[in-house]
Amino acid sequence: MILKKIDLINFRNYEKLSVRFYKGINIIYGDNAQGKTNLLESIYVLGITKSHRSFIDNNLIMDTKNFSSISGIINKGSLDINLKIIIENNKKVLNIDNSIIKRISDYISNMNIIIFYPDDLELLKGSPQIRRKYFNLELSQLYSNYYIVLNEYNKLLKIRNEYLKKMANKIYVDKNYFDILTNYLVDKAIILIKMRRKYVEKINNYSHKIFKDIMELDNFNLKYIPSIDIVYDNEDNYKENIIKFFNDKLYYDIKMCSTTYGPHKDDYEFLLDNINLKNYGSQGQQRIAVLCLKLSEIEIFKKYKETTPILLLDDVFSELSDDKKNNLLKYISKDIQTIITTTELNNLDKKLIKKSKLFKIESGKLIKIKEVTNNE
Ligand SMILES: Nc1ncnc2c1ncn2[C@@H]1O[C@H](COP(=O)(O)OP(=O)(O)O)[C@@H](O)[C@H]1O
Ligand SMILES: [Mg+2]
Repeated sequence: MILKKIDLINFRNYEKLSVRFYKGINIIYGDNAQGKTNLLESIYVLGITKSHRSFIDNNLIMDTKNFSSISGIINKGSLDINLKIIIENNKKVLNIDNSIIKRISDYISNMNIIIFYPDDLELLKGSPQIRRKYFNLELSQLYSNYYIVLNEYNKLLKIRNEYLKKMANKIYVDKNYFDILTNYLVDKAIILIKMRRKYVEKINNYSHKIFKDIMELDNFNLKYIPSIDIVYDNEDNYKENIIKFFNDKLYYDIKMCSTTYGPHKDDYEFLLDNINLKNYGSQGQQRIAVLCLKLSEIEIFKKYKETTPILLLDDVFSELSDDKKNNLLKYISKDIQTIITTTELNNLDKKLIKKSKLFKIESGKLIKIKEVTNNE
């Protein structure tokens, strides 16, 4: 898929901006604090409906204004899709082709994005919550059903936790209803666990080769760590065993006033030679592991959604050595729309610049420097 065009009104330091992107590589360069990350962030928000760096939507509105609008045209083969998001008073209105979309799950699978940015390492080094959030988002972009089930799970979880709190405080609850609730929760949990497990398998199908090509090492592995560690043998048994597991933990859950196991407690590990990179990896290995994960995701999008996601690279080249940079560029410059930001054009290969559309950015103003010169 291709982002043909984006229009911003009052988004961060852009009062008004209209950009047409090239279907291949686009490079945006400029000094610090000029708006490079803001521009990529606007693209990210247009696809995902949330920022990758701010939880508070109102931060996205230009600080002297009271609303912000992002609109863009996505092209998929012969189809153009108009997406639009308006943010006002901490509320967001989502539009596809001028119709309001109520459910986020109906919106977010339309524009697929993979983003690389310097804080990405948090994905590896940060808390399990960061990894869960990340993989939830990736899975939701891939399967709209995932987001729906996740929401249902979270709703059931909230109710179950309220029941547990009541039980802890010796307030009467209907135990039959509680058991039914747990049963439903387990149904949703099983769907999530299966989808996560499959997704990690898919990542590993690609990541070995990618890691080898970029790092010249081949023992990279993503591992899914479900908090309910029960072996799947057959459908009936599996559910039964999980329900038994929940029942065994009931007294502990009551004591903690919350459901202490389930997909909301899962984690993922990045392994190199079976060693967890979180604790033992060098910064360089960690960075490559995250890149490798994301490159594998591109392959998954290609295979299962029959489209390429839009790739955003925010200032990531300064951190990599020349040969790794070149290996990486070889990977990404194949038929995938890419938007790269950098402070230094010198960080990028001349040949790459030649086949890219080039923009310079200066305090929220974008200046087109050149179109693509060869007729690619
Ligand atoms: N809501 C906002 N309203 C106006 N300006 C903003 C807002 N949020 C961030 N900025 C400004 O955007 C600039 C940073 O832009 P950024 O895209 O992060 O820069 P960089 O080019 O270094 O990536 C800063 O000057 C900051 O003050
Ligand atoms: Mg930046």
